[in-house]
Amino acid sequence: TQHNAEALRRRGVRVIEPEVGPLASRGERGAGRLPDPEALLAELEAALGGVVDSWAGLRVLVSAGGTREAIDGVRFIGNRSSGRMGIALAEAAVRRGASVELVAANVSLPSAAAIARQDVESAGDLGAALSGRFEACDVLLMAAAVADFRPDATHEGKLSREGEAELALRLEPTEDVLATLAARRAPNQVLVGFAAEHGQESIERARRKLARKAVDAIVFNDVSRADIGFDADANEVTIVEADGEHLVALAPKAEVADAVLDRVEALRSRVAK
Ligand code: CTP
Repeated sequence: TQHNAEALRRRGVRVIEPEVGPLASRGERGAGRLPDPEALLAELEAALGGVVDSWAGLRVLVSAGGTREAIDGVRFIGNRSSGRMGIALAEAAVRRGASVELVAANVSLPSAAAIARQDVESAGDLGAALSGRFEACDVLLMAAAVADFRPDATHEGKLSREGEAELALRLEPTEDVLATLAARRAPNQVLVGFAAEHGQESIERARRKLARKAVDAIVFNDVSRADIGFDADANEVTIVEADGEHLVALAPKAEVADAVLDRVEALRSRVAK
């Protein structure tokens, strides 16, 4: 094994060294343990980051996942967003050499070690976390599914069905986080919103959202299709911009993320002039 590993090194192959510690054979210790997944990932990121770094120096802020609004101490109103698309975007930006911050709402998936991640719960928490980071970013990718309404009061402890024939919840609107951030944007920032639309006239709705939220692009996907969107590994999206649309055909989310970043690059070259 050592002879073969040495031959690989001589041919220029990057070898991740084994870790030192107890080995599978009883009583044996030494170099021969599989490194921790985090260490492997860090090596891979370093290897990939060295290849493509067209976004070096860019600060990218990403939101991912779906917010939860508390009904009581144990229940919430949530949505089906897994955070996959947001994580794919954050990781694609890291691969291009950007420095990436991720605000993740209830995302159980891991993200690359190179991503500075803050986990949050509610729309309010997400808004506060993004607000504090927004000024310093060059690109905002707002992939999180943010609740539009939340219970107007949170019951302490746990609501009981005992003696209750029905339960009425009154909901109040949450802040539109993206629109609030866009209102304080600098001209050279690029802001991208995401929209899950259903069926007919979805392009028109996405276009209205683009204007209403004052962002540079809205990436939308049709959630009436079962093969794409929430919790799927693949996605098909249309990127709607002020002067046109770009269809990204069904592809793994990592490829869709790259297509979105390509559009961000095009938009940036426009605002930079
Ligand atoms: N968004 C947000 N804050 C909200 C709701 C949405 O920042 N309270 C952001 C989402 O993260 C997304 C974009 O706005 O990037 C579009 O989200 P969507 O839910 O499609 O838009 P809504 O404003 O909720 O519009 P509608 O309910 O009419 O579809």
